[in-house]
Amino acid sequence: RTVYVNGEYLPETEASVSIFDRGFLFADAVYEVTSVLNGKLIDFEGHAVRLARSLNELGIENPISKEDLLEVHRELVRVNEIDEGLVYLQISRGADSDRDFVFPDPEKVKPTVVLFTQNKPGLAETVKPMKVISIEDIRWGRRDIKTVQLLYPSMGKMMAKAAGADDAWLIEDGFVTEGTSNNVYIVKDGKIITRGLSNDILHGITRAAVLRFAEEAQMEIEERNFTIEEAQNADEAFFTSASAFVMPVVEIDGKALGDGAPGKVALRLREIYLDESL
Ligand code: PDD
Repeated sequence: RTVYVNGEYLPETEASVSIFDRGFLFADAVYEVTSVLNGKLIDFEGHAVRLARSLNELGIENPISKEDLLEVHRELVRVNEIDEGLVYLQISRGADSDRDFVFPDPEKVKPTVVLFTQNKPGLAETVKPMKVISIEDIRWGRRDIKTVQLLYPSMGKMMAKAAGADDAWLIEDGFVTEGTSNNVYIVKDGKIITRGLSNDILHGITRAAVLRFAEEAQMEIEERNFTIEEAQNADEAFFTSASAFVMPVVEIDGKALGDGAPGKVALRLREIYLDESL
């Protein structure tokens, strides 16, 4: 696989970053995951805009123009012959000369830019009815910034796995925030209910697209908080992300939703999303 590091295309075995990179030492880095279907990037524009915002919120100078970033994405998809898969992009504040909590002088230390592809044949076809558990949301308060601080989401997935489930939904002050790596929805009497945007959740690019398509299809949408009990008593549930598109959830904390099969609304939205994206 060919990867990209700071302006260079290299075989993955020859690519490296410094041990003093702040992404490595302090999780001082942001990322994006863009899906590829039929060799085409999905929602690149949305991911580029969110990336710029994440960098800005952390005071990291954006080291690459949108045009150049698109070119790197396209080149990696081309050389790695990705038909279905993902492009991972990470930008850290850069590699300082030592370990220091204080941010380095941006004139001296430039951000580290890394991109690689992940080949995922069958990504669009894979519909897995998901079982989720709920766990406390103990992440930091700026979840709107897409940082690489992913230890707790990783632990959440492990807790789900240990419980025989597929993923975890995070609960704060009694309400569901989001999934470990996705935005979450419930459906009651045909109405789609999802938490509104704030610093408490990542502003999903897939979320924005799916809500737009739902609106265009005259589906009713309510943006508000909901509890895990409300979710357990919903007709259906699902989540969205760049890597899963729209994925039905059929069980929450051991309780089956509706008839226990993937919901109609979730499957319809998945179909619309894939149709519109292809
Ligand atoms: N995760 N919420 C969280 C916490 C996420 O990590 C993600 C994405 C989303 C969905 O955002 P989007 O629709 O823009 O992908 C919501 C990516 C896919 C990941 O970490 O792999």
